[in-house]
Amino acid sequence: MQLTYEVNETERAAMVKTAKYEKSLSQAIRERRATPSFDGAPIPPEDLRKILEAGLSAPSGYNMQPWRFIVVQGEEQKKRLRAASYNQGKVEEASAVIVACGDADGWRKDLDIMLAQGLEGGMPESYADQARSNIPNYLSHFNSDQMHGWLNKMVMIATTHMMLMAEALGFDTAPMEGFEQDKVHEVLRLPLSYWVVALLAIGHLKGPDKFHGGRFPISHTVFSEEFPKPLK
Ligand SMILES: Cc1cc2nc3c(=O)[nH]c(=O)nc-3n(C[C@H](O)[C@H](O)[C@H](O)COP(=O)(O)O)c2cc1C
Repeated sequence: MQLTYEVNETERAAMVKTAKYEKSLSQAIRERRATPSFDGAPIPPEDLRKILEAGLSAPSGYNMQPWRFIVVQGEEQKKRLRAASYNQGKVEEASAVIVACGDADGWRKDLDIMLAQGLEGGMPESYADQARSNIPNYLSHFNSDQMHGWLNKMVMIATTHMMLMAEALGFDTAPMEGFEQDKVHEVLRLPLSYWVVALLAIGHLKGPDKFHGGRFPISHTVFSEEFPKPLK
């Protein structure tokens, strides 16, 4: 027998605030907006941890997990980061800004750890043996643009996981590509092998939400079997 527990709106609002209630994935996707302005209230460390762990749970090519996240919460550092992000106010207003980076050299250091973890989780020895040569063969031939493209894919999936988990926990978010790579590097003292992919501001909306820009219909963007056959 399924036990159901009905929550009224006041209880739900309180639970969202204390993060005891999580929105369903459908609700989080439906309600998420790119937040124009934040109130700056600090984010509870346990919620931040849960958001980061959602990012770490993302899939990645060969499970190489090339993402690296710098969490910026200090007032002075947020100010500096804002200056590196075309002066976007939400960088400074947010409770936390996760600077989502990819490490172009991560695979060199992490290959053995990844394989050891995989073997513990049931990865076949034969798979590990192949991966030990296939992964360096694949990644070591990338030029810098190809590596950045590869990192962009992996890091954005992890960033999306974090954005939706934040929404599910009752926070508002703003993903950002408006920043200067060199300046962010300087502010965060990033290693040369790091590539900054996106900023994710998290907090609570201040003032009115942004308009809803709408989305193109399926007939505009989805095809069936081959281009341009419509999906029936
Ligand atoms: C990767 C990415 C980068 C973005 N960069 C910025 C940004 O730098 N500044 C900004 O104000 N909005 C930025 N946005 C927000 C988009 O403008 C917003 O998602 C879009 O207009 C749709 O609105 P919605 O997210 O509220 O549905 C970015 C969104 C994404 C996904």
